[in-house]
Amino acid sequence: MTKKILVTGAFGQIGSELVPALQKSYGKHNVIAVGHKHIPEDFDGIVESVEITDNKAVTSILKKHNIGTVYHLVSLLSAKGEIDPTLTWNINMNGLKTVLDYAVENKLKVFWPSSIAAFGPTTPRVRTPQKTVLEPTTMYGVTKLAGENLVHYYHLKYGVDVRSVRYPGLISWKAPPGGGTTDFAVAIFYDGLTKGAYECFVRPDTKLPMMYMDDGIRATIELMEADPKKLTIRNSYNLAAISFMAEELAKEINKHIKVKVTYKPDFHQKIADSWPQSIDDSVARRDWGWKHEFTLPKMTLTMINNLKIKFGVV
Ligand code: SER
Repeated sequence: MTKKILVTGAFGQIGSELVPALQKSYGKHNVIAVGHKHIPEDFDGIVESVEITDNKAVTSILKKHNIGTVYHLVSLLSAKGEIDPTLTWNINMNGLKTVLDYAVENKLKVFWPSSIAAFGPTTPRVRTPQKTVLEPTTMYGVTKLAGENLVHYYHLKYGVDVRSVRYPGLISWKAPPGGGTTDFAVAIFYDGLTKGAYECFVRPDTKLPMMYMDDGIRATIELMEADPKKLTIRNSYNLAAISFMAEELAKEINKHIKVKVTYKPDFHQKIADSWPQSIDDSVARRDWGWKHEFTLPKMTLTMINNLKIKFGVV
């Protein structure tokens, strides 16, 4: 019997796009989408609902479906994480440990997402190197750094084939903005198209590393399909595509649609200021051939075109 793929956080920002991509490559009957509260009614595929902090329930789903690969995506993001740090720790860490323990016993291959949030204010902010200072100042970042160390440990100690990337801010149109600091770069499109205006929660000169979701999905699948002998990083690969300031994005959007952008920095600003502006991902490019496709103009146009269809805007 073929081993199946299980995706946690299947209906979150990344999962909403990774699940269909995996279904396309490996067949619908081979992908198990694990969600929690909001499972879309029109989802076409195998679905399970579980509380990710319930270790027994998670393990029983892994057993039930004869799983060979797990994409363990479930996570609360940075801004939401600051509202309830304890919940963030529990959600972001408990399920990961359960999945890794099961992976040891059953020789699973595991993907786990880290983030630019693993870095902190003491990290060099421009072209942040692969190996550098990691002193995050958000609970989300703390869980990402702890997770990086945990997956690295499970690889060294038990030989688990676990792979990871430090995603930059991901920009996508399928899932609505959901509690991340980089989500201003998503919300600006949503509000821009529905209201013609956007109040941005960071300063105009706030520059962060970003990536269009299609690149993010391709990176994930390419890393998981890469020859393990080529992988020199088993905590998490730096991954990059584009970097821009909030005002540069606003300008690019205004080439296509009229959006009045105002700026009212709040607690998100401190988080944004603690993260890099750009990332050196040359190790990923060397080890498994990573190459991004979406530039700022291409991403902007693709977002506008897709959201116009989604919102029925002509
Ligand atoms: N997009 C995430 C956030 O802003 C960063 O990984 O929280």
